[in-house]
Amino acid sequence: MIIPPKPPARAERVPFWHFVRLFRKDVLSALPARLYRARMAEFRTPFFTSYLVNEPPLWKHVLNECPQDFPKSDRMRAGLEPVMGESVFVSNGANWERQRRIIDPAFEGGRLRASFPAMLEAARAAVDRMGQGGCIEVEERMSHAAADVIFRALFSVPIGDAEASAVFRAFRAHQATQPLLNLAGFLPLPRWFPRFHRRATLKTARRIRTLITTMTERRAAEIAAGTAPDDLATKIMTTPDPQTGQCFATAEMVDQVATFFLAGHETSATALAWTLYLIALDPDLQARLADEADAVLGDAPAFGAVSRLRLARNVFREALRLYPPLPMLVRQVARPARFRGRSVKPGAQVVVSPWHLGRNERLWQDPDAFCPGRWQTAQGKASARDGFIPFSSGPRACSGAGFAMVEGPLMLAMLAQRFRFAPVAGRVPVPVAFLTVRARDGIWLDVSPRGAA
Ligand code: HEM
Repeated sequence: MIIPPKPPARAERVPFWHFVRLFRKDVLSALPARLYRARMAEFRTPFFTSYLVNEPPLWKHVLNECPQDFPKSDRMRAGLEPVMGESVFVSNGANWERQRRIIDPAFEGGRLRASFPAMLEAARAAVDRMGQGGCIEVEERMSHAAADVIFRALFSVPIGDAEASAVFRAFRAHQATQPLLNLAGFLPLPRWFPRFHRRATLKTARRIRTLITTMTERRAAEIAAGTAPDDLATKIMTTPDPQTGQCFATAEMVDQVATFFLAGHETSATALAWTLYLIALDPDLQARLADEADAVLGDAPAFGAVSRLRLARNVFREALRLYPPLPMLVRQVARPARFRGRSVKPGAQVVVSPWHLGRNERLWQDPDAFCPGRWQTAQGKASARDGFIPFSSGPRACSGAGFAMVEGPLMLAMLAQRFRFAPVAGRVPVPVAFLTVRARDGIWLDVSPRGAA
């Protein structure tokens, strides 16, 4: 059985300020081990109470049945606002509903087909950039590849384009100033606690938004002139809200582009990097992935073929279960509620944790084992219904989930078709939660061309 790395969990209670320090270093290892079994946990801080809800009826109540009673948290919004503004990722209520009405059609099945050539070209470019292989840090490579996918799908330009690569560099600089970004919202500090953004964070955020504004304004002019390409940006900018007939204003579109870029590239990149690490632990599985890719994709992959990449999809899902890129989702309680007989007051925080659900000992057999075969069993599928939410669930689930489930298996299949991956001695990656679940010192793999002896 292959048991890939899991961060050490805290066994004993620690004083509050010590916990805050641990939390800032890494959320995953700061939390107690009992959360992998608990149905629910209550954390009382001097400032507010936080509930982690693991029991399926509870998380389904929060995300699926009554999402309006558990909106996105103000704390998270404050952390993401410099880059995302009031985008669909952070807004609530009527403003969020309007944004989803405009965005969702761009991610429907038919449009996924339209984005497929962008994914394919980006995957081919990622394969080419691997060259003859060597000892390679794959998080960085996958970040580049996923950014390439997003730029090609949104604006019909590759990441090699001067503007696209300037945006990519600006995002990297931004993350370096604020590695916890969305997790800032989790910090157990009071609402009145000063939350100044560092000057460097505001500077990099301004730079990102200036670059994206230029691209968006240019696209608005191309749409007006009838010369715009048929890509995601054009689709979103020309889709009116069916209720009001209004399209996004340019400033709103800048919020959305920044969100798609950030939410859509870091997540896919992290998932792919962990997937490559997992397959590196299993050479037989890699050979089967390569065979499947040869049989299904051939030399000229078509959109319809992706649904036949069953093994690649199961491997990618298993990676999302073990290393969900967004490990925890935070909501705030807007109305009095009852959780397992306890009354929950407005202002409390609710955390739904794809990380703890994916490894929950009550829901999964061998929860920490890497076992793609489980996705073919009735038991695995039943566990998934209660414990697999890497894209969240309910009306606020990821808009790009369908997109990511084409991109991920395709990229994996094409890489496994051309390369072998092996772990590097002495470099076992340690998962930590930054913006997404990253490895503390990167994910290093020995990469060699598959044809080579
Ligand atoms: C493996 C890849 C991905 C994963 C694991 C992922 C995961 C998630 C999760 C968990 C959420 C909910 C966050 C929360 O409730 O706080 C979310 C929201 C979102 N994601 Fe993704 N995502 C991925 C790829 C993408 C892509 C490719 C796009 C767009 C191109 C995208 C766009 C969005 C947007 C716009 C939202 C906000 C939805 C809303 O609040 O209504 N994501 N994603």
